Amino acid sequence: MRYIGAMSEMEQIRQKIEALTAELNRHNRLYYEDARPEISDTEYDRLTKELEDLEHKYPQYASPTSPTLRVGGAPLSGFENVAHAQPMKSLSNTYSKSELFDFDERIRKLIPDESFTYALEPKIDGVAISLRYENGILTQALTRGDGITGDNVTANIRTIPSIPLQLTLRQPPAVLEVRGEIYMDKTGFALLNEQRQENGWEPFANPRNACAGSLKQLDPKLVAKRPLDGIFYAAGELRGVTLNTHIELLAYLKDAGLKIAPKYWSLSSIDEVSERLDELYSLHSDFPFEMDGAVIKVNERHLYESLGATAKSPRWAVAYKYAPEQAETALLDITVQVGRTGVLTPVAELEPVQLSGTTVRRATLHNAEEIERKDVRIGDTVVVEKAGEIIPAVVRVVTEKRTGEEVQFSMPDRCPVCESDVEQRSGEVALRCTNLQCPAQLKTWLEHFVSRDALDIEGAGGIVCDKLIEASLVFSPLDLFTLVPSQLDTFNLGTPEAPRMLGSKNAAKIIASLERAKTKPLANWLFALGIPKLGKVGAQIIAEQHETLQEVSTSSLLKDIVELSVQSEQVKPLKKENPPLYAKRCDEIEQVGDRLVEAGWYKKAASKSQTRTLAKYTLKNQQGIGSKTAESVLSFMNSERGRSLLTDIAAHGITPSVERKASTALSGKSFVITGTLPNMGRNEAAKLITRHGGAVSSSISKNTDYLLAGEKAGSKLTKAQSLGVAVISESDLLKMLDTPEKQKQLSLI
Ligand code: IVH
Repeated sequence: MRYIGAMSEMEQIRQKIEALTAELNRHNRLYYEDARPEISDTEYDRLTKELEDLEHKYPQYASPTSPTLRVGGAPLSGFENVAHAQPMKSLSNTYSKSELFDFDERIRKLIPDESFTYALEPKIDGVAISLRYENGILTQALTRGDGITGDNVTANIRTIPSIPLQLTLRQPPAVLEVRGEIYMDKTGFALLNEQRQENGWEPFANPRNACAGSLKQLDPKLVAKRPLDGIFYAAGELRGVTLNTHIELLAYLKDAGLKIAPKYWSLSSIDEVSERLDELYSLHSDFPFEMDGAVIKVNERHLYESLGATAKSPRWAVAYKYAPEQAETALLDITVQVGRTGVLTPVAELEPVQLSGTTVRRATLHNAEEIERKDVRIGDTVVVEKAGEIIPAVVRVVTEKRTGEEVQFSMPDRCPVCESDVEQRSGEVALRCTNLQCPAQLKTWLEHFVSRDALDIEGAGGIVCDKLIEASLVFSPLDLFTLVPSQLDTFNLGTPEAPRMLGSKNAAKIIASLERAKTKPLANWLFALGIPKLGKVGAQIIAEQHETLQEVSTSSLLKDIVELSVQSEQVKPLKKENPPLYAKRCDEIEQVGDRLVEAGWYKKAASKSQTRTLAKYTLKNQQGIGSKTAESVLSFMNSERGRSLLTDIAAHGITPSVERKASTALSGKSFVITGTLPNMGRNEAAKLITRHGGAVSSSISKNTDYLLAGEKAGSKLTKAQSLGVAVISESDLLKMLDTPEKQKQLSLI
């Protein structure tokens, strides 16, 4: 038998890093490519954290293609300005087919003896980016900047799932600099704006602004949350690869794992290009990005040098801009909608008009500021545009057509539905209705409550919600649980003149779903309550650390998050004003922060030199609970509305099921605790141990497995040593909870 020597500790670490990397890469593929995840987000985060910690401790083994880079590292203090290896030029524009023919003429004059073809592709409305791959590894991502130097946004770009950290080429070239566009997916943009408006924040004007704003974020973890993507269409510096045509370049980029335009053509003449422009336009609404025109490029790359460039743009390519899709129409009225959380949104009611193939009747005006800025008045003729083909928007007023009859609009000071007062919360642009029982709020709230991701009450959506409110059967979502079959069987969904009964079958379905809902998981209940700023993922994260809604309402974890944020803000000025007090406050902040670290929600910056404030504690993953959400959850649960919901929930015998399975990381192990622990109280430590299946006793015997010892440990320590009982520190205990086995167990949650 061959003798295999003991593996060195360092080799073991290297192998561990390699195994974790492979595992995370596999889960990324399952999630992003196959849409078939095998593990929960929580487990994914735990694996990522384990790898992150190892990479931090042993940077010599940290790979530039590590999957940990996808979730974003520590926040940056600013972006470094870096010179482009080759300048990043822009494109000149053409606005008509005749200008396009002029472009072709110019080229022919410059290279009269050459024959050439064209490539036609969509122009993506995003943010230009230059990626540098060295030997196949993504080493740098620069924005265009002034074309000569750009911002180094590598950490942000690495969080975009579709951008390969390593090219999928068997023989990657020494240098591949590739240029393209980062954009925000149209659907993702619409969802993001919906959320922002729901939270009373200013919506982004369009996907491009949202994308540019995201890339400027200094915290890559925030960027990781944004639905960004990239499409590549040009090369910068190339070393070790020759590509003859643009079409060949695109095929090569695709092979390398980079996304290219979903549609492009190789065409033999400018006439053919001109004929294809309409076809390309007809496809634009199917593209996931906003199309900002077409790009026409000479296909043969060897001609680029002789064609040259102006200071601004190359002569071998040009953009073609389609006439914008806008239409003039009359603004008949401005109405105000009330959302689930009471946010008032002004809506333009329009004379119906055709716009990119659909009839537009309404357009959002976002908020009062927007109306004022554009000086929109009722009766105006307005230009409407389909911004990103998603939400029609009022672009401007055709003031030349004003008759003087137009009426200025101001937001109501009462809710248009229930006439209650409206309020503007500090820091928000939106107005909100203050009435907790507002029927408009109730309607959207009820629809949310019964929706699939919340309590999934089959057959109770849409019109049923509306009618239940109209019939005064429901004043709060919890009233659904008071309904009885006899009430529902003959419930009229139609009008008194043309009745349409719900029927016993549908009624039975609703009642059965309501019964099932009573034991739905805590996460679904938390989400169903419609707490501002709390989404599905946030609800899941909170549910994993709590057992009941009551517990959430008094959660020390959530309070810690709020406190950490408040304290960290307050401590800053003390640094100069009162250093001793500053140090004391920092210690307190550390205690709070460490509790959040222990809960697994936050992580602590490893660097010792880092300021001892909130900056030291950051959300552990892209989907943690931030201070705004924590604050919103606590204030909702403890508000009049929240308290009455909790009372009703208890009164209806509703007991959301607990998803947290007991961890068995310490099962079968007995502990004794002594001395003062650095971060936890002894009770807290005991709770932690028992929560993970361990037992805690007060006296040491030979059956004790571990003595958890803090400062001033005293006689127990001596006894443990004499009995040969292992003595561990608080951090050893935390590490024991952090083994892969424990991670597996916790991931069953
Ligand atoms: S080629 C040196 N192709 O539009 C020429 N640009 O308005 C490099 N853009 O700076 C540009 N889609 O940021 C090219 N298919 C496409 C494009 C595209 C979008 C952007 C790019 C460019 C800007 C000019």
